[in-house]
Parts: sequence; structure tokens; C-alpha cells
Amino acid sequence: MSPLVDVSLNRWDARCPAAQQAATKQALEDGHVVWLPGLGFDLRQEEHALLDGATGGAKNISWEPRRGVRGHGPAHDAALLAALMQRYARQSRTLLASLLPAYLPHLQQGRSSFRPVEIAGRATSWRKDDTRLHVDSFPASPTQGRRILRVFSNIHPHGAPRVWKLGAPFAQVAQRFLPSAARPWPGAAALLQCLHITKSRRTPYDHYMLQLHDAMKADLAYQAQVEQHMHAFAPGQTWIVFTDVVSHAALRGQHALEQTWLLPVKAMAEPGKSPLAMLERQLKRPLT
Ligand code: SIN
Ligand code: FE
Repeated sequence: MSPLVDVSLNRWDARCPAAQQAATKQALEDGHVVWLPGLGFDLRQEEHALLDGATGGAKNISWEPRRGVRGHGPAHDAALLAALMQRYARQSRTLLASLLPAYLPHLQQGRSSFRPVEIAGRATSWRKDDTRLHVDSFPASPTQGRRILRVFSNIHPHGAPRVWKLGAPFAQVAQRFLPSAARPWPGAAALLQCLHITKSRRTPYDHYMLQLHDAMKADLAYQAQVEQHMHAFAPGQTWIVFTDVVSHAALRGQHALEQTWLLPVKAMAEPGKSPLAMLERQLKRPLT
């Protein structure tokens, strides 16, 4: 089955029939990428300056309501960036309200990001190398079981696609890498939180998800051999994905917006399809 399911919407606030909402939810919960080839995010005139030239910032510039803009370079206009990402956060929420209204009351807003750096050729450590297939899990930001739902839009001004690879289903990833995953050290979670290495408590679930993330990226034979499917997202397109279950890698592309939402497992139509439930079944113990 294709790892992508396309949905034809051309408005962020489209009125979606109940059948389309149900199909979208099922596609996401089954580990597909929901691709909106007709839905683009429009920049305002003054925002085009953000796409021009070297600006000396981080690979991802982020914005959160309470912390403002982080990771921008000296040449960036922080107020303009904040306004752009705030608008993207709002529009992505409007889209999820249209397509996934059952999730809406449960969604917790995470970071917005603007990704102005070309992915191909970017120097990075293997652990941060998103050109290798992985499932998302972040060392400093435990989700404690909540799902990572992300909305992406390619906003490249001159036609460059954002090229992704999609890999094997999560069940296969877990079957391959979970048996050799190290157990969490007793007391480690409290220590990490106390030292402010994690923003909240790293649960056993977060520990095992990080292990999967790292084991996938570290295993070059796996990267070469696993089934994989390339997909190019053109400028003017948007896609939605639970990046904690979908094996993904971003190979090339520049200028994207991304909004992260966290979703409690109980808000899913089928909580048994969450990575938390799948890992707990395989390990035969609770991971919260
Ligand atoms: C990732 O989540 O691995 C990166 C995706 C992207 O920037 O397109
Ligand atoms: Fe990722």
C-alpha cells in the first residue's frame, strides 16, 4: 500500500464531509502520510525577504508562544519570523479543525519551525542527520506517550521540491530494534530532569523511542536495505504525519514551515495503534 494518502483540499478552512474526516484520521493512525497537494501556505510580501540569502541561523528556527523565536541569525527579523510562524500555527490548527475535528479539543500546541537551510550537504552528527530514516523522538522533550502530529508546508519560492524517503511500518521497526534496546537506568530519568537535560520526566516510553531513533540512524546496513519509498513534496503543498510512527528521512529541499502538535493517546480513534501501545505489547509491561 502507498505510504501516502492524498486529500484534495485547497483551503485551510475547508468544510470536510464526515467520511473524509474519518478516512483522514484512519490514514494517519495507520501510519500513512496525508498529502494535500493543492494546499499551499501563502507568504506575505514582506516575508519573502526571509527566504533570501545567508542569514547565519540554525537549521530550524523555532517559535513558541511563551518563548518567542529561537535559532535565528543576526540578519533575521525576529518580529517578522514570529508573525510568520504564529500565522502558520493558526492555519495548521484551522486545517486540523476542518480535517480532524475529533482531535481538536485534545491538541497541545508544540513548536513551530521555519527551515531555511538546504538539507542536502548539511553537516551534522549522525544522530541529528535527518537524511537517515528514523522515527521522531527528542532527547530534551519527552512526550510521555503523547503522539507527535506534524504539519509541513513547502514554501520554496523557485520550485524546489522537499524530497522525503518513507520506510518500513513501525511494527517492523520495533520488531527489529526493540529486542536489542538497552533498558533505562534506574534513577536516570530523575537525574536528567534535575539537571534540566530533559524539560520533563523521560518516561520508559521516551527512553525506548529514543533508542529506536538512534538505532535506526546508526545502522547503515538497515538504511541501505530497508524498503523505502521516495516522495517529492512540491512548493505549494502541505502534508500531515504522525512522525513518531512513520519512518521518514528528508533528503533535500529548502524553505519549509512545520507545526508540531501533541496528541494524548486517548484522543485517538484507535489508541491500540499508538507507538506507546505497540511498544507495551511487545515488551509486555507498561511504559508510562
Ligand atoms: C524530519 O523530521 O526528520 C525532517 C523533516 C523535514 O525537515 O522535512
Ligand atoms: Fe524527523
